[in-house]
Amino acid sequence: MVKKGIFIVIEGLDGSGKTTQATLLAEKLSKSYSVLLTAEPSKGKIGTFIRECCLYEQARVPTEAEALLFAADRIEHMQTELKPALDEGKVVICDRYVYSSLAYQGSAGLSLDWIKTINARALQPDFCIFIDVPPEKVIERLQRKKSVMETLETQQKVREVYLKYVENGGLVRIDGDRDREAVAEDLYAKVAELLKTAKSFVP
Ligand code: TYD
Repeated sequence: MVKKGIFIVIEGLDGSGKTTQATLLAEKLSKSYSVLLTAEPSKGKIGTFIRECCLYEQARVPTEAEALLFAADRIEHMQTELKPALDEGKVVICDRYVYSSLAYQGSAGLSLDWIKTINARALQPDFCIFIDVPPEKVIERLQRKKSVMETLETQQKVREVYLKYVENGGLVRIDGDRDREAVAEDLYAKVAELLKTAKSFVP
């Protein structure tokens, strides 16, 4: 079945403000479109397992297991939320998706090709944005208990992978090291442009 909606993904380091920006974008777009705002890890069974059993432990589970869990959560998320919303013609905004697996599990040593292989069933997004904030800043911002991913070294490595995909055109970079409103305006302008040119898309 041909996808009718528009699928937008927002990526970034932990503490980069992507959740705030995804929420602001969803609020603005909701004035003209039917919008689903969602996130990964998802609120489904596998996503809940990841949050409860993997992210705040003493150490990371084997990276292969992490990658498989995130890929499994993605399949469930796709079937229960993403695909139904896209089939209904909604604008779907997803806070993290396959690029998170490439960046986090890839920078932890896994082959990017293998990560792509286990995510081969994932729906292709129409537009992927990377909200770029320096790793030193995000670590400083994170005041709450830090997860296993939230060390300066991990965030630096993760950013390097994201930037590779900015270079190859998979991700569009937005400078996230500015005030909230400036980032939100930039993000909205880029998405509005996409929605204008998405020929098959009827709001
Ligand atoms: P995050 O967006 O930080 O969730 P929340 O803001 O609700 O705490 O995601 C949790 C962590 O999961 C984050 O450190 C990135 C990591 N992650 C991966 O390592 N791989 C993935 O494929 C996804 C989706 C997330």
